[in-house]
Amino acid sequence: MQTLTLPRPDDWHLHLRDGAMLKAVLPETARHFARAIIMPNLVPPVVTLDDAVAYRDRIMSALPDGMGFEPLMTLYLTEGTDPGDVERAAASGLVKAVKLYPAGATTNSHSGVRDLDKVMPVLEVMARIGLPLCTHGEVTTPEVDIFDREAVFIDTVLDPLRRRLPELRVVMEHITTEEGAAYAAEGGDSLAATITTHHLIINRNHILAGGIRPHYYCLPVAKREKHRLALRKAATSGSPRFFLGTDSAPHIDALKEHACGCAGCFTATNTLSLLAHVFEEEGALDRLEGFASRHGPAFYGLPVNAGSVTLEKRAEPCVWPVKIQSEAGPVTVFNPGFPVHWHVVT
Ligand code: NCD
Ligand code: ZN
Repeated sequence: MQTLTLPRPDDWHLHLRDGAMLKAVLPETARHFARAIIMPNLVPPVVTLDDAVAYRDRIMSALPDGMGFEPLMTLYLTEGTDPGDVERAAASGLVKAVKLYPAGATTNSHSGVRDLDKVMPVLEVMARIGLPLCTHGEVTTPEVDIFDREAVFIDTVLDPLRRRLPELRVVMEHITTEEGAAYAAEGGDSLAATITTHHLIINRNHILAGGIRPHYYCLPVAKREKHRLALRKAATSGSPRFFLGTDSAPHIDALKEHACGCAGCFTATNTLSLLAHVFEEEGALDRLEGFASRHGPAFYGLPVNAGSVTLEKRAEPCVWPVKIQSEAGPVTVFNPGFPVHWHVVT
């Protein structure tokens, strides 16, 4: 029997939501992960240090007794964000990043940024104090094809911003293209990228061929097969520029299976098993530790977790619940579409 033990991993991009949904999904992450970067796209969003303190308290109250978990909070950047509040938030130690959502790019992003010039004073403070900017890297102009939004963002927004403010530390969140992987690989110490579990597994055919499958719809949307292969290469390359951000994004089934369905794949429950499967397929099981447990803390300047998780490869495939039940409604767990034999045992 094959086993694999890793330092306890972290998730560098996670949606926990609030209320009944938070209660239902938090244990799914805390079971395997020590920490996670918590996305601030609530309604209303987590904009100020006070908002982040209150949200962190709600997360800790929702954590079942006996489970350990540290939420690493983020602030949602708006055109009204106060640079002084961001500096205090970083100094408090509670806030680890600021999130840029271009207005309209994804779920709950209408308070996002329309004009980067308006947030330059905030970005200048962040560059000075070393607080990372996490980017949802898609342009939202209707003329740009949805499959091109990431590549156009890199050329027209991200690269000009990094030339203007080279000291700014940036995480390209949930990259989905070979252009994204190439840009991150060459960006130097101030740049990194997160990659989701599902973008290593699905391409756009999974969403659209043979019927529309709403549980595979997320943003940025999965692209062609060549991009999935480029992401696998980046994730398993051993480069410290790439680390795990699941972007596990729960929505109740009624809103996914809908005429205008929400974007988001819920992968918290089975991410580690799926990653072991993917890394083994790529002949890179020994590099999963870097991707899931080491590169993220190194970029964020945090220690690697003291605990560990062990996975065992067994003859029988893993069985996960098809859905997680919440008081808000059921949430479908990401189905990779193939059997997975790596069981998380501790
Ligand atoms: C996320 C959500 O539902 O909050 N959805 C998604 O498809 N990934 C938002 C996001 O990260 O884009
Ligand atoms: Zn996300």
